[in-house]
Amino acid sequence: MDAIKAMEERRSHRYYIEDRRIPAETLEELFRLTSLAPSAYNLQPWEFILLQEKASKQKLYDNGCPQKQVLTSSAMLIVLGNKNPAAHVEEVMAGFVEQGYFNDKVKQKQIAMIMGLNTTMDDEEKRVWTMRSSVLACQQLMLAATALGLDSGPMEGFDAEKVRPAFEIPEAYELVMLISLGYREKEPLSRLPRRGYDVIVHKEGF
Ligand SMILES: Cc1cc2nc3c(=O)[nH]c(=O)nc-3n(C[C@H](O)[C@H](O)[C@H](O)COP(=O)(O)O)c2cc1C
Repeated sequence: MDAIKAMEERRSHRYYIEDRRIPAETLEELFRLTSLAPSAYNLQPWEFILLQEKASKQKLYDNGCPQKQVLTSSAMLIVLGNKNPAAHVEEVMAGFVEQGYFNDKVKQKQIAMIMGLNTTMDDEEKRVWTMRSSVLACQQLMLAATALGLDSGPMEGFDAEKVRPAFEIPEAYELVMLISLGYREKEPLSRLPRRGYDVIVHKEGF
């Protein structure tokens, strides 16, 4: 499926065929494609809690997310964004050296700079920092899902203060959003109108 078709076909789904398992190979491919999303300095702050078991989805439903698709989806994802830019900096910067982008000396400077970000940014800046990259991974995941024959739905209607303790999510992670995944039981309602080119694009200044 080409990118344009995937963008046109992706919809937010809320009615899923219950108890249909997503094949393991499809999930692996989904996350391989997701991981190709861009991120600041390639630091890839995103992580995902994958809930496929009925009991886990029920736990999410009972702890801050009582939307029916949580129970009927094949899988629910809790998308997390690591708020520490330096969390994987060594490994990521080693990749730059391996691919010939820069040498070890530059690598050390880059590591120091990114570790510095962790100390100079306040909590709100860290939250925005991780959101920028993690949200791109969410959209990439939903488009990849469409291309792989899966349906999905982004969700912000949840109570993070209940979800966090229920799934023992460390404070270092932002709860970015939830995404339902599965196979549609019925077609979604017609696509809602979008604001047009003339109003969303400000040419050469606001
Ligand atoms: C950040 C975000 C949060 C959303 N939260 C919910 C939600 O909690 N429940 C829900 O049913 N749909 C949710 N939606 C889906 C939107 O309602 C949907 O994307 C929008 O109406 C456009 O429809 P479409 O995605 O089918 O084009 C959310 C979408 C986004 C991007």
